[in-house]
Order: sequence, then C-alpha cells, then structure tokens
Amino acid sequence: MRLDRFLSNLPTLNRQQARLRLSQGQVRVNDEVVREPLTEVRAFDRIELGEQLLQAGRAARYYMLNKPQGCVSATRDPRHRTVLDLLDEADREELHIAGRLDFNSTGLILLSNDGLWSRRLTQPASEISKTYLVQTEQPITEQMRLRFAQGLYFRFEDLVTRPAQLEILTSHSARLSIHEGRYHQIKRMFGQFGNKVLALHRESMGPYRLDPQLAPGAYRALSATEIGLI
Ligand code: URA
Repeated sequence: MRLDRFLSNLPTLNRQQARLRLSQGQVRVNDEVVREPLTEVRAFDRIELGEQLLQAGRAARYYMLNKPQGCVSATRDPRHRTVLDLLDEADREELHIAGRLDFNSTGLILLSNDGLWSRRLTQPASEISKTYLVQTEQPITEQMRLRFAQGLYFRFEDLVTRPAQLEILTSHSARLSIHEGRYHQIKRMFGQFGNKVLALHRESMGPYRLDPQLAPGAYRALSATEIGLI
C-alpha cells in the first residue's frame, strides 16, 4: 500500500494532512524519515508518526523444508498431513508455500509469509530454474533428452514447455532442470514417452539448494544472506 494511503486511512488524518506530515519529515519507516507519499509500505514495515507508533511491523519469516513422501503441499487438508503440520512454529498458518510438490514427491519446499519474496520465486516471468532427481519405470533415452531441450507440446494449456535440461545419470534415473512450473509438469513430460515417474526429488529452486543436513520432514529458517539471494 502507498504510504500516503496508509496514513490517510488513520481516523485522525485526511489525505492532505497525511501529505503535510510527510513533507514535514514527521513520518519514519523502519527508523528512516520518508517524505515520498508514493513509497510502498507493507505489513513488515515499522511505521511511526512523530512519537506515535502506527505499525510495529510483522516479522517476515522464511523456511526451507525437506518434504517427505505422503504429505500434501497445502496449508490445510482434511485427510492428509500437510507440510505446515511439519513446522513447530507459532502462527504457522500465516505461512504459504512457494512452489508445490506432488503428494509423493520429496525434497526442497520453501515457505514464507512474504508474498513478494515467494512471487519472485514462482512467477513464470522470473524463469527460475528448478532441479529434480527423477527415477522412471522405463529407460531414459537420448531422444527424450533432445525433445526435452526442444520443448514439448502440452495440449491442455496449448503451449510448448520451455527448454529443459536432462542429464541422464543411469538407465532409469536423471537430473532434470525445468524453468517453469506447470501442473504435474515432469510426470507429463515423461508421460509423453510412455515412461512413468516412480520417484521425484527436488534438489533446488533458483539459488536455494536443499540443505543436506535436513532429514525428510526436517526444516530450518533461512539465513539473512539466503533470504537476500532473490
Ligand atoms: N513435476 C511433477 O510432475 N511433480 C512435482 O511434484 C513437481 C514437478
């Protein structure tokens, strides 16, 4: 929300008074005087008017979690355990998931209450790369590698997938990097070759790599440096 709108929403100030207080240097955002009415402020910002604290600023929270199999990437589910159930944190229901995994997929999940940060990770335009280890029922072939690199046609969405990099590791396993997140994307990519995905594990999303210290089901907070990577 714009700072002038935030101020004029207060019962004691109209728009003109808000702008006056701003120009007089009476408004501080995160301990700094701000005069620009169009400055965007968020629930995480501390906002003061003179001696008066208007908003304390909610703490922004960021976690990485190693999702185990058989757990839903949702904040609520009537039947199954969710990734949020794995967090031993107060107010965990205010967190959301930045990039879901299927019920039986495992690996890196990022959670936050900061919508702008998670959007930078998940919005299609950012082309963040996501890397997965895949195990399949049938052998993985050179033809698949070439076709994945060209892009595959998804009829339901009427689009061609972005070029994906397939590194064949063994006859039935590979590392795959994709740059978008369509519904069941990897299963559908292999499905076009009649090859069923038996296991799918996310290793990384953009600059975030699953911490090898995290056992399935475990999580940790991101450091300040990690949060700033995106
Ligand atoms: N693609 C899939 O098919 N499933 C996942 O969980 C992630 C990517």
